[in-house]
Amino acid sequence: MIEIFDESDGVARAVAEDFVACAASAISERGRFSVALAGGSTPRTAYELLATPAFATRVGWDRVHVFWGDERSVPPTDAQSNYRMAHEALLHRVPIPAGQVWRIEGEREPVEAAAEYEIILRTKLGQPAILDLVLLGLGDDGHTASIFPGQPVVHEAIRLTAAASAPKPPVHRVTLTPVAINAARRVSFMVSGSNKAATLARVLEGPRMADRLPAQIVAPIAGDVVWFVDRAAAAGLRTTASG
Ligand code: 6PG
Repeated sequence: MIEIFDESDGVARAVAEDFVACAASAISERGRFSVALAGGSTPRTAYELLATPAFATRVGWDRVHVFWGDERSVPPTDAQSNYRMAHEALLHRVPIPAGQVWRIEGEREPVEAAAEYEIILRTKLGQPAILDLVLLGLGDDGHTASIFPGQPVVHEAIRLTAAASAPKPPVHRVTLTPVAINAARRVSFMVSGSNKAATLARVLEGPRMADRLPAQIVAPIAGDVVWFVDRAAAAGLRTTASG
């Protein structure tokens, strides 16, 4: 499903509303909500909105468990840290118990950090490890999380996490694999800006080639995937849906 909004603020608002709805449903059905946050810059506005009373008061934060879709191999205080971005924009502004925020330890060697995170995911989510919601962005090269073109992790079929390499700094990363992402009950992409238009069209409407466009590997086994995009990012699409 693709929802198109005039501006990126519309994308942020829709992502925040979707988060609230997913949380309410998960908590009502299973007593808790497990979500993997996206990194990069696009999600910041959505996280800041989620922290406002209009949204934050509608989430049962004491039942929320936060994970990450990926992390750069930098300390949590680093300006490039996905944890730091989410902490500043959202997590330190809402009453989520600190023991329910499960960051990827970017300060550790990536293979070790990935192995540790694998244990955390399997311990906290059970078997199979099912996240209620995975938030993802889209890079202009077709990557998502830290699954980059030409990287073997796009074909990972067993592990939930992996050390990854990016073509741009920070090079070393830890990422959820397609196994963790596609086990989710819902995957929400957020894409804005004209610089993403050509890639979004290739990902959604072009030939399947996940090695070169890793975002194409996202196909939840039992869950659904929704694309929240702005009109600038949707400019290259043949099919457009109203948002
Ligand atoms: C990261 C993200 C990455 C991001 C895309 C889009 O750690 O950088 O996980 O996958 O979502 O690169 O980034 P922007 O939102 O900044 O365009």
